[in-house]
Amino acid sequence: MILCHKGLFTLHTNHTTYQMKADAHGVLLHTYYGPRVEGCDLSYTIRYVDRGFSPVPEEAGEDRTFSLDVLPQEYSGCGTGDFRLPSLDLELPNGSRGADLRFKSFRVERGKYALEGLPAFRGEEDETLTVVLEDAAAGVEVELLYGVLEDYDLITRAVRVINRGTSAVKIRQAASLCLDFQRGNLDLITFDGKHVLERCPNRGPLLPGVRSADSVRGGSSHQHNPFVILCDHSAGEDHGLCFAACLLYSGNFQAAAERSQFETVRLTLGIHPWNFCWTLGPGEAFTTPEAALCCSGQGFTPLTHRLHRCFRERLLRDPWGERPVLINNWESTEFSFDAERLVAIAKSAAPMGVGLFVMDDGWFGARDSDRAGLGDWTVNRDKLPGGLEALVPRIKALGMDFGLWVEPEMVNEDSELYRAHPDWVLQAPGRMVRSRQQLVLDFTRRDVRDHIYGALKAVLSSAEISYVKWDVNRSLAAVWSAALPPERQGEVFHRYILGVYDMLERMRRDFPHLLIEGCSGGGGRFDAGMLYYTPQIWCSDNTDAIDRLRIQYGTSFCYPVCTMGAHVSAIPNAQTGRSVSMETRGVVAMHGTFGYEMDPSRITPEEREVIRRQIAFFKKHQALIHQGDYYRLSDPFQNGPYTAWEQVSPDKREALVFVVSGPAQGGPPLLNLRLKGLEPSFRYQVDGQGDYPGAALMEAGWPLPMPWGDFQSWQFYLSAL
Ligand code: GLA
Repeated sequence: MILCHKGLFTLHTNHTTYQMKADAHGVLLHTYYGPRVEGCDLSYTIRYVDRGFSPVPEEAGEDRTFSLDVLPQEYSGCGTGDFRLPSLDLELPNGSRGADLRFKSFRVERGKYALEGLPAFRGEEDETLTVVLEDAAAGVEVELLYGVLEDYDLITRAVRVINRGTSAVKIRQAASLCLDFQRGNLDLITFDGKHVLERCPNRGPLLPGVRSADSVRGGSSHQHNPFVILCDHSAGEDHGLCFAACLLYSGNFQAAAERSQFETVRLTLGIHPWNFCWTLGPGEAFTTPEAALCCSGQGFTPLTHRLHRCFRERLLRDPWGERPVLINNWESTEFSFDAERLVAIAKSAAPMGVGLFVMDDGWFGARDSDRAGLGDWTVNRDKLPGGLEALVPRIKALGMDFGLWVEPEMVNEDSELYRAHPDWVLQAPGRMVRSRQQLVLDFTRRDVRDHIYGALKAVLSSAEISYVKWDVNRSLAAVWSAALPPERQGEVFHRYILGVYDMLERMRRDFPHLLIEGCSGGGGRFDAGMLYYTPQIWCSDNTDAIDRLRIQYGTSFCYPVCTMGAHVSAIPNAQTGRSVSMETRGVVAMHGTFGYEMDPSRITPEEREVIRRQIAFFKKHQALIHQGDYYRLSDPFQNGPYTAWEQVSPDKREALVFVVSGPAQGGPPLLNLRLKGLEPSFRYQVDGQGDYPGAALMEAGWPLPMPWGDFQSWQFYLSAL
């Protein structure tokens, strides 16, 4: 619900309230964001005091208590006397820098706004508030867009900067979101890591100054994620005030939180200002990516539930509904395969219940290693005689769908494409930075995108292909586009991501039944922007079940289980050398879009039987696993005796509990696992082992079996009587 009254704008969701107010000088002040508060102008919480060295804008005259240096603002400028994090930074034709925004008008419209060429939550039944601010000296208007997804407790934001003047201005920074808090005692949680260990939570109190999580790698990165949480120092899974902010964007981003001199906090989130400079001609508009905010007064679990539900219902565009159990040949064959080897893998997988066969890297061009072939999207007929036209029907005859791997954004120097178009890469003259022996194609260019898309479209049209794994295996460095003039090189990173989105949207439009899985050396581009186009993303190249407990735990704070690609792979694990039982590998991989990445013709009949049971179990409970409310029952980073999680159906009549024990220890303690989210008054049948009240299972817990050996696992199914 959006309420507007004399410059006061109040956005209500079911459980939260967001408010801002245009003050007497037209400055849009942020008055509140938190649990729902009704019938109140919350600007009474803002105090005006004379602070030393805090500048006063001209119109405030001698009123030294009015300074932008201290007031909580809705969308911060710069050069105004506010020295905290800017949201908008403009460079005017005369060389001056700054942005001083004042309230101009507003409008409320039915239906949540959409953003052309950019990912966004959907909301035909919701409302949009647009608050128009202007910087008179710059001749620039700024539209702050707010989408209110009431039932999900989600507020989305985006910003449109419009040049109403007669000369070009440069946008040096335009954040998607600014959020001021009139308190400094907050923790920041960021989700960080590296290739093969992504999205590990890091939590700490904000100290004076700025703490940020960001990427300048061209993609959202393995190292940091465009999702952060701010919370009470005491907040936990089930208590405390917490705020989540995520960016629907897959390129360079910056999430920055500043604790100021007067114990206030400002969070900004948006495109990273490094190497960003957008020239905005007269009459032109620039739209930032969308950001989303969510708040919970009762800890992280409700925050996660709200985000998961909203992602599932309003962001993902899922052509299949139920995701297939897949088998991928990458870890078992890498580049050395031919049609017979692939069919052998598929033949051994089909009777176990696998529904989708994915042919990974190596099927095209001269791709016998990672040194050659990228860019040449034609089938390698030495490996696959008769092409896909011959292979795909053989896979389909086994009762499986067929999918394949592509890496459209990249090129090897050893490729037909590069030999024909060496100028198609993003590479500054005189500089050459390779990574995995590959270069990046200039996706800012329409002609380059058209060429690659044409080749992919021909492949996808040549046989019955149901799935594509869209990979990207390097970061961008020494970036420069031959297609843009020097003064526009600061647009390249953003235009590149817009180009990626354009390609994905074309593919979705031309092949509406195609399931696209995102990937970037595992989880290097696992973000809400990508999920709009690819409803599942390969979570990590690390398939070690015990490392995956941590990766998937961190990922779960924002991203739903049905978005996380997770596979059982062979042991000893290719990344860690660790060996974990087939049972435990299955339990962990079921915590995602389930699949296998091994050659089942090379395992024992007993192991094949375990897989058959795993797949049957998963299929039976898929709706609960993928759509249920997700509870983290323990934190795997605490090195406790076990890691456990649970899914509960929305009506609370069913639940699944998964447990993986830690390394073996002599004389292990006997543990009772306290469950969550059940209905206290229901009686639940626990895996045929008796029935117990929900209250008992949540308060007294469920006795776990005594572990014997490292990393054992158990799963329990609960159903209400
Ligand atoms: C990346 C992906 C892997 C695999 C290889 C193929 O590393 O994350 O899953 O597809 O590329 O080269």
